[in-house]
Amino acid sequence: MPHVWRPWEVIEVLRFLTAGESHGPGLVAIVEGLPAGLKIGTEDIDRELSRRQGGYGRGARQTIERDQVRFLAGWVNGMTIGAPLAMLIPNRDWENWRDREIPPWTRPRPGHADLAGAIKYGLNDLRLVAERASARETAARVAVGAVAKALLAAVGVEIGSYVEAIGEVRAELTKMPLSQRVALARHSDVACPDEEVARRMRDRIDEARSAGDSLGGLFVVVALGVPVGLGSYAHWDRRLDGRLAQAVMSIPAVKGVEIGPAFENAALPGTQVHDQLYPGKPRPRRLTNRAGGIEGGVSNGEPILVRAAMKPIPTTVTPLATVDLATGEATSTQYQRSDVCAVPAAAIVGEAMVAWVLADALLERFGGDTLDGLVRRVNDERE
Ligand SMILES: Cc1cc2nc3c(=O)[nH]c(=O)nc-3n(C[C@H](O)[C@H](O)[C@H](O)COP(=O)(O)O)c2cc1C
Repeated sequence: MPHVWRPWEVIEVLRFLTAGESHGPGLVAIVEGLPAGLKIGTEDIDRELSRRQGGYGRGARQTIERDQVRFLAGWVNGMTIGAPLAMLIPNRDWENWRDREIPPWTRPRPGHADLAGAIKYGLNDLRLVAERASARETAARVAVGAVAKALLAAVGVEIGSYVEAIGEVRAELTKMPLSQRVALARHSDVACPDEEVARRMRDRIDEARSAGDSLGGLFVVVALGVPVGLGSYAHWDRRLDGRLAQAVMSIPAVKGVEIGPAFENAALPGTQVHDQLYPGKPRPRRLTNRAGGIEGGVSNGEPILVRAAMKPIPTTVTPLATVDLATGEATSTQYQRSDVCAVPAAAIVGEAMVAWVLADALLERFGGDTLDGLVRRVNDERE
């Protein structure tokens, strides 16, 4: 048999897979390709899980769940051992649903996977689609992202995020240093570094809730201390910007991704966009970062900036027009318990996905069966 070259066999050093339904017994994640010797505790992961559960505008589900991870494999005495790492996050809500008789859902909700999923898998009960399509799955991704963050932290890379807009309420943050934006966002329930704008965001969420409506917004993920040279310009599928865009776009309800202020750049002449170089040590320096830390698909040593646009939550108290698939008749959606706004939570998932891609690209460039070896190689190159 001739060997078929599949690009992803080469580029993926790290792999992860999740399984689990929203109201099933729990979520499972398996991570493969981690070096041995990475120190990580359940408390490091639980902290990230609790950040994902928070945020102003969330629904009643978050008062039921207290997400906590359990390691099932690949972890001994607080450390990875080079074997696949398996994690479980039990769903507390499972107890409330396991014995319930639920009539089939037949009214697809616009903006959800319901209709396309039911046609694709030949399912008559839309709940079977919703159970897996639900963003509950992102809890497992946040657990995986916490592991990726621990790996990155070992080589001095830090990941953070902040919310820039909720609905039409937008913060103007260009004058605030990035590290300050991320630090202040950590103490805000809308993850917005500007407290005055945060207050208006909360008011806007209250207004949407009272109107039976929902909201989306913008969040930014920031990666600081990323070594030069992650990704590649040599092959389309190894470009770091492309990999980040795919990973962040895979978050439910994220419909736009940009690296740096890309859409703003598109309206400006080149002389006002490209980050000019000046002599400096250990490498030439720049006064601006409009490229968002990536040139030619390769990290250039500047902070990596990924901005994402989240659509409004598709479940609204105000009914939307739909069709009952059982009868073919026009009808309207039936409200299911839901968030009004989940942009702050999505930002945490964004951090996880960015951390994942950077950890993969880091291992691809520096290799590592052991954490010590990886750290040594990264530091050798930094000196
Ligand atoms: C953290 C997070 C929480 C979400 N919570 C809800 C929710 O409570 N209700 C809802 O209808 N959609 C919610 N969504 C969005 C839906 O999961 C998503 O819009 C839907 O699965 C369809 O996928 P798509 O928007 O990517 O096409 C959430 C998304 C994220 C990232």
